[in-house]
Amino acid sequence: MPTDPRNLTRHAGAVTRQDRERRLGQRSAVVWFTGLSGSGKSTVAHALEERLAREGRLTYVLDGDNVRHGLCKDLGFSAADRSENIRRVGEVAALMVDAGVLVLTSFISPYRQDRAAVRAIVGRDFVEVFVDAPLAVCEARDPKGLYQKARAGKIAEFTGVSAPYEPPEHPDLHLRTGEQSLADCVGAVHDLLAARGLLHA
Ligand SMILES: Nc1ncnc2c1ncn2[C@@H]1O[C@H](COP(=O)(O)OP(=O)(O)O)[C@@H](O)[C@H]1O
Ligand SMILES: [Mg+2]
Repeated sequence: MPTDPRNLTRHAGAVTRQDRERRLGQRSAVVWFTGLSGSGKSTVAHALEERLAREGRLTYVLDGDNVRHGLCKDLGFSAADRSENIRRVGEVAALMVDAGVLVLTSFISPYRQDRAAVRAIVGRDFVEVFVDAPLAVCEARDPKGLYQKARAGKIAEFTGVSAPYEPPEHPDLHLRTGEQSLADCVGAVHDLLAARGLLHA
């Protein structure tokens, strides 16, 4: 009996997530990087992906600017649009986990509630990594020149300047990229995944 008012019923396929994980010889999960622009989310996620790929894992990085060209191209940077952006990415990440992929996501994702909602969608295999660097450090790096534009008033609602960032209260891992090297950061995430049993075949 359909329980949804739109008469939708889930079709459970005979091939399961476990079957796909076994086929790939890996566990799937979402490693969710959150932090200010310029904190190092993309740099760490992509460096970790290179290492995992060398180790034979099937991975995928979902990155903010990339999804905003397609999946989320209709969204801006208001609080409501940021929430919808993260909700969509969370749903995509959950589907990719069901497909057996080790998903790495790189989004500022400034709101605690939005990150909690993704954790609720994905379930137990959600690893939140706080990529933390002081605003002054991010601003000095300014890899995309966005802080300069934001300070000049050319970008509205820029996180850390004119829009809030709510740091995780209990992240699974807290990286301090102003103090730790990139190699240390990648190693710390890798160690955590191993400790969680997520790198077992
Ligand atoms: N330990 C570190 N981890 C990650 N990035 C670092 C680190 N130290 C310096 N950086 C530099 O900081 C910048 C981070 O940029 P990026 O990864 O694009 O940030 P985000 O994706 O969070 O906006 C890069 O220029 C990177 O080389
Ligand atoms: Mg980035």
